[in-house]
Amino acid sequence: MAVIKAALLGYGTVGQGVVEIIQSRKKYLEQLTGAEIKITAILVKHLDRPRPLPASILVTDQFEEILDQKPDVIFEAINGEQPAYTYLSRALDADIPVVSANKALLATHGAALFAKAEKKSLSVKYEAAVASGTPVIGTLTRLLQVNKVVKLEAILNGTTNFILSSMHNQGDSFEDALKAAQKEGFAEADPANDLEGWDAFYKLMILSQLIYGKQPDWHEVTRQGIIAIDQSDLKQATLQGERIKHLAILEESNGKIIAAVKPVHLDSSHSLYGIDGVDNAVTMTTELAGPLTLRGPGAGKMATASAMIEDFLTLFEDQPEKQLQL
Ligand SMILES: NC(=O)c1ccc[n+]([C@@H]2O[C@H](COP(=O)([O-])OP(=O)(O)OC[C@H]3O[C@@H](n4cnc5c(N)ncnc54)[C@H](OP(=O)(O)O)[C@@H]3O)[C@@H](O)[C@H]2O)c1
Repeated sequence: MAVIKAALLGYGTVGQGVVEIIQSRKKYLEQLTGAEIKITAILVKHLDRPRPLPASILVTDQFEEILDQKPDVIFEAINGEQPAYTYLSRALDADIPVVSANKALLATHGAALFAKAEKKSLSVKYEAAVASGTPVIGTLTRLLQVNKVVKLEAILNGTTNFILSSMHNQGDSFEDALKAAQKEGFAEADPANDLEGWDAFYKLMILSQLIYGKQPDWHEVTRQGIIAIDQSDLKQATLQGERIKHLAILEESNGKIIAAVKPVHLDSSHSLYGIDGVDNAVTMTTELAGPLTLRGPGAGKMATASAMIEDFLTLFEDQPEKQLQL
């Protein structure tokens, strides 16, 4: 049987999920692809950290050694825009298609990576980077073949949605809701990225790139977090039959992209009014298909890794003979 050599950049929450799925779905993936998927190398930052991995997998902190293995595909699940951008750029230079979950990287350097990949007839896949296991990128890609997206409104950050839901449903203070999110493992020890809207902002920029082929000037995008919201704001909203939700909004007006991440008052007729807890949800209004809402997990080991494996399988549809030489 043919072998597909896969390398993994990052062996944290998401990376471990990718390995688990490749191992637990081994037979199924072989049936689907006609090949054995073998993880041959994993890149990490802290080489001395103990990791229960078979000796057949090279674990290294040197990207050069990953390339030396000549992988057929690279899964990238490390944090931040660099060195991830350099690594994926070099992977494409070496004719290797990539699957990434890294929103900061894709928001910042996605356009450059897509351009490089296109020149080489390779793919950069990134379903996991926006709303994790909820298939927003795949659905939009299909819709955009025939439709224009008139407006997109979304809850793209599970932590802020959990906090606002707890404040609304249990009457928690902002501080108590944040502590509960941290206790449940939803929020980071330093949750600024979520609370100040950066996480949702990156995802919105990725969506803008996909929908409009470009991003707005980042300085012109409103990015407001939820830190200033307290119980009196929520009570006031409730009195008016409304809820406050932290939304990411995208639309195009007269050729200009308007984007914002901010708390918004929604009435009960709005599709995102009842989205509670850590879920993400995206309402995309298209010219022909009208409004469509997707709701699902916005984070998590298996949901995110599942999206990466789904992306990997689409590489076979794209250009099997070029990208994965079976
Ligand atoms: N967690 C989720 O639910 C989720 C959902 C969607 C998207 N994502 C995205 O997926 C990516 C990974 O998230 P995660 O939660 O799995 O993170 P994580 O648990 O912190 O794991 C990150 C992994 O990347 C490695 N790493 C970090 N910087 C590196 C560098 N410079 N060189 C080599 N390896 C490096 C770390 O190595 P060490 O183990 O040696 O420290 C670790 O194995 C992020 O971009 C995140 O935004 C995560």
